[in-house]
This record gives sequence, structure tokens and C-alpha cells, in this order.
Amino acid sequence: MAAQNLLADRTIIVTGAATGIGQAFAVGCAAQGANVVIADLNSADETVALVEQVGGRALAVKVDVSDDASTQAMAQAALDRFGRIDGLVNNAAYFREVKLTPFEEIDPAIWDRIFQVNVKGVWQCSKAVLPAMRKQGGGAIVNIASVVAVAGQPGYLHYVATKGAVLSMTKGLAKECGAHGVRVNVIAPGFVITGATQNRPIEWQQSFLKARAISREQRPDDLVGTALYLLSDLSGFVSGQTIIVDGGHIMY
Ligand SMILES: NC(=O)c1ccc[n+]([C@@H]2O[C@H](COP(=O)([O-])OP(=O)(O)OC[C@H]3O[C@@H](n4cnc5c(N)ncnc54)[C@H](O)[C@@H]3O)[C@@H](O)[C@H]2O)c1
Repeated sequence: MAAQNLLADRTIIVTGAATGIGQAFAVGCAAQGANVVIADLNSADETVALVEQVGGRALAVKVDVSDDASTQAMAQAALDRFGRIDGLVNNAAYFREVKLTPFEEIDPAIWDRIFQVNVKGVWQCSKAVLPAMRKQGGGAIVNIASVVAVAGQPGYLHYVATKGAVLSMTKGLAKECGAHGVRVNVIAPGFVITGATQNRPIEWQQSFLKARAISREQRPDDLVGTALYLLSDLSGFVSGQTIIVDGGHIMY
């Protein structure tokens, strides 16, 4: 993709960008002129290389979004390197590890951990970037939920509950941050083929595919255009909204 200017000179932090959907967001933002902070628990060398291939500037930061001090350090590293923070994509999640479990058998420790990462993590990353956005007079936060928060999914109650919380938090944050010029929106992806989902039951993949208006596999790149829209001035008067990107499975 040739470099363009939708996000020229802006700094965007993408959490969970070492792989999968987050990696696609990071590369997509870089291709639109952004400086990208690739924030992940794991090594992000592959994403850094891909960002540089499209002519972007990348900073890899090790972060655990469930740890408040770690998210503060992430925001500070972005400011030290690029001097500003214009966008945050709250994409990191406890997701790959989630096991299909009847709700009454979910381990309470796993229940707590998934909320720490998927819900507390979104809160902590958002509060870490807010002071910089407020000082600059604005910014955009894009949360990543899931279509299962709208449609439900048996065997994943803890995960479904966290993504439902992300939908509600988006609205609460949008109301609270609007006065500072900060917009907050959420994308709910359908079943996307990534390293996290490739081992999920094949019947699942097939059932999602059959239910779609656009009957093909969903890939990480299918989400990038919506994220760019929400991060850029194209959506300057849009806040608190949920956009389902699932090939026309759930419609409302
Ligand atoms: N793949 C799908 O079908 C699908 C569908 C709906 C929603 N989602 C959501 O999209 C996002 C990305 O999913 P994916 O399929 O790319 O998953 P993935 O497992 O490939 O990527 C998740 C990334 O988050 C990082 N991460 C996990 N815990 C972290 C923590 N505590 N701190 C920092 N980084 C952490 C991981 O290291 C990994 O790089 C998640 O929020 C997921 O819930 C995925």
C-alpha cells in the first residue's frame, strides 16, 4: 500500500500489535502517515519491520495492559519518542488462551484475569493517554470488542462479558472525554482468521461464514479501513458508536 496522508504526523498507539489484527492496524496506520507505537507483551519485531516496509516510523514498547504502571510507561515512551499521542487502539486482549468452557465451570482465577486484561486494560490505557490528548486539544480512542458481545456465544461467558463491558465503557468514555475533544468508538469484529482463532472448531468458522451477507473468510485487513476512519478526521463528529465489521452477519 503506498503511503498516504489520512494520519500524517499523528502518533497512534496500538496495543496487542505484535501479531494478528493489531499488526494489521499498525501497518494500516503507518501507511497513512502515522508514527506507530506497537505496544505488546511480546516481541514486536515482525510488526516493526512491516511498518518500516510501508515507510512508517515505529516504536516497539513492551507493555502489560493489565498493569497500571506499565501503561503509564507506554504513554510516556510514546511522548518521549514522538512528542504527542493522537490515537489509541485498545486491541490487546486475553483471547488466544480462552478455552471453550460451560459457564458454571469457568475457573474464577481465569474470570478475574480476563477482566484485568480486557476491561481494566482498556481503562488503564485510556487514562494513560488522556492527559496528552487533553493537552493537545483532542484525540481518538478506538476500542476493539467483538460481535459476540452483541450476539452471544456459548462456552465463552467470561470473554463475552468483557467485550460487552468494552461496548458500554466506550459510551461512558465518549461522554466523559468529549469535552476534551477526544472521541471514543468501538469496532466489533466477526470471526477473523488470526493465529488466535486458527485452532477454533471448524464448525464455528463455517457457521459464521454461512451467516454472512459477504460469504468469505474475514481477515485482519478487513478491519483496517474502519479503524482508519475512526482514528482520522473523517469521523470528526462521530463518538460513542459501535461499528460491527463482520461481513453482514449481525445487522441492526
Ligand atoms: N480474531 C477474531 O476472530 C476476533 C474476533 C472478535 C474480536 N477480536 C478481538 O480482536 C483483538 C485481536 O485479536 P487477535 O485475533 O489478533 O488476537 P491475537 O492473540 O493474535 O493478538 C492479541 C495480541 O494481544 C497481546 N496481548 C495479550 N495480552 C496482553 C497484555 N496483557 N498486554 C499487552 N498485550 C497483550 C498478545 O501478545 C497478542 O499480540 C482482541 O481484542 C480480540 O478480542 C478478535
